[in-house]
Amino acid sequence: MVKLDKSFVENMYSVEGKVALVTGATGAFGRVAAKAYGYLGAKVALTGRNQAKLQELADEFKAEGIECAIFAADPAKEEDVQKLIEDVVATYGRIDILAIAHGFNKPANILEQSVADWQYIMDADCKSVYIVLKYVSEQMVKQLNGEKPASGQGGKIVVVTSQRSKRGMAGYTGYCTSKGGADMMIACAACDLSAPYGININALCPTVFRSELTEWMFDPESAVYKNFLNREPIGRLAEPDDFVGYLIFLSSNASNFITGSACDCSGGYLVV
Ligand SMILES: NC(=O)c1ccc[n+]([C@@H]2O[C@H](COP(=O)([O-])OP(=O)(O)OC[C@H]3O[C@@H](n4cnc5c(N)ncnc54)[C@H](OP(=O)(O)O)[C@@H]3O)[C@@H](O)[C@H]2O)c1
Repeated sequence: MVKLDKSFVENMYSVEGKVALVTGATGAFGRVAAKAYGYLGAKVALTGRNQAKLQELADEFKAEGIECAIFAADPAKEEDVQKLIEDVVATYGRIDILAIAHGFNKPANILEQSVADWQYIMDADCKSVYIVLKYVSEQMVKQLNGEKPASGQGGKIVVVTSQRSKRGMAGYTGYCTSKGGADMMIACAACDLSAPYGININALCPTVFRSELTEWMFDPESAVYKNFLNREPIGRLAEPDDFVGYLIFLSSNASNFITGSACDCSGGYLVV
């Protein structure tokens, strides 16, 4: 029987001193995710495709004393991602935590959607996850220098997918398929990475939360809002901050036995 260790319990949510790479850092959730890591003393590598938005974010973070650096890259482009990782490692020496928080949707009925539009969504939400996950995992394995670490000590990877990975919806043949694919990719990557390399990888699956794109759904008078609320036992729609606790849990020693999961962050959406 293992004896419970007091200092483990006291520090199990710590990410202090870790290097955390956040994709989609300029988005609604990416921004709070990166800030939460920064507030907890991690060094934060912020990435997205838009340099100007990243610069604005870094200025805001630095004004709050957060250690961060920016790296513009398109996560769906292999050469961009390889350079991104080289640059992050050149700046901070390693990558301990990866949070994938970028994403895109352009809903369209399958009868009206072009194959090119469908493929763009698949690339933005699924292929890009594979590319970032593959190259960051390679970097995490390299950092082990041939040692076999304990569970969770090789790195932590959290991928924001969606409850739409489990439920279909009109106009969502691209988004639901890509998010479902990402959940399955995470399950498979856990089988590749967790036992041999101590890398834990999990999906964080939210329902609708407030962002620039979803703000319109938050009008309490709208049918969409009322419809969502009927499916939310928790009684409200989510804010990006609602998932920070789960993110830190999945990024820290508190979750050393958790891998390959699609973690429900939906206020109970699937129980109704
Ligand atoms: N908001 C919701 O209700 C909701 C619900 C469930 C799941 N999600 C998922 O949660 C994650 C974060 O969502 P969010 O609402 O915080 O996002 P958001 O505010 O819309 O921001 C999206 C982020 O992804 C980047 N991005 C946009 N289009 C992209 C593309 N085609 N390829 C690669 N990157 C792209 C953006 O930066 P650049 O344009 O500068 O690259 C931005 O940083 C996404 O995976 C989303 O699918 C969101």
